[in-house]
Amino acid sequence: MISEFDLHQIVLKILIILDNYIQFSGDNFMKTLFDKTKISEMELKNRFIRSAIWEELADEKGHVTAELIKHYMELAKGGVSTIITGFSSILEFDKPTNNMNGMYDDVFIDEYNGLTTVVHEYNTNIIMQIVHGGPKWGPSAVEHLITKTTPKEMNTEDIKEVVQAFGDAAFRVKEAGFDGVQLHVAHGFLLSMFLNPYYNRRKDDYGGSIDNRAKIV
Ligand SMILES: Cc1cc2nc3c(=O)[nH]c(=O)nc-3n(C[C@H](O)[C@H](O)[C@H](O)COP(=O)(O)O)c2cc1C
Repeated sequence: MISEFDLHQIVLKILIILDNYIQFSGDNFMKTLFDKTKISEMELKNRFIRSAIWEELADEKGHVTAELIKHYMELAKGGVSTIITGFSSILEFDKPTNNMNGMYDDVFIDEYNGLTTVVHEYNTNIIMQIVHGGPKWGPSAVEHLITKTTPKEMNTEDIKEVVQAFGDAAFRVKEAGFDGVQLHVAHGFLLSMFLNPYYNRRKDDYGGSIDNRAKIV
């Protein structure tokens, strides 16, 4: 008579054999953290990606400092395939935190090019994350649960201005030699407030259905 414990052990062994078979067959062959992969055209030497972390190492206007470059060089030396920078501002006077990176003006292109060049020397990709913090502007005049500020409800012109600023910043990111750009659409910042029906009470094309709420993105 087979015990319940033995039965569990047998099922577990079958699952392990199946798992090994799946990992070592066809397209799934050797999908481990140390294998190469691709995201679209971007090649990754392994599957370690450093998620976006606000470094607090740019100067107060978002310019590159020696400390910022050293920080990213150390990360690249460490062997990750790809680094996502901390959030970077797309508009000079919209800065959710101190000493965050800036990409709100063409003057940043050359200096951030210096940073991407250093990182690329280690065969590491670097993606810049860009953000609109939004405490003064929001989809609706609803008090922010964290900042406790009530934003001005954005009109269509304001929305177009923000979309343009994101587009301009993304273009500079490309010119500065980054391998990609990531939009910050989380953590209660402006774009995430549009997605969230609690903050977004709009009745126009930018509110209501999820498609409408996501339209600004
Ligand atoms: C100090 C600090 C700064 C962060 N800065 C950013 C940021 O700029 N952009 C972002 O999307 N997430 C940021 N995050 C969130 C992290 O990228 C990550 O998603 C979060 O820490 C959860 O991952 P973990 O469970 O591995 O810590 C930050 C987190 C910390 C602790």
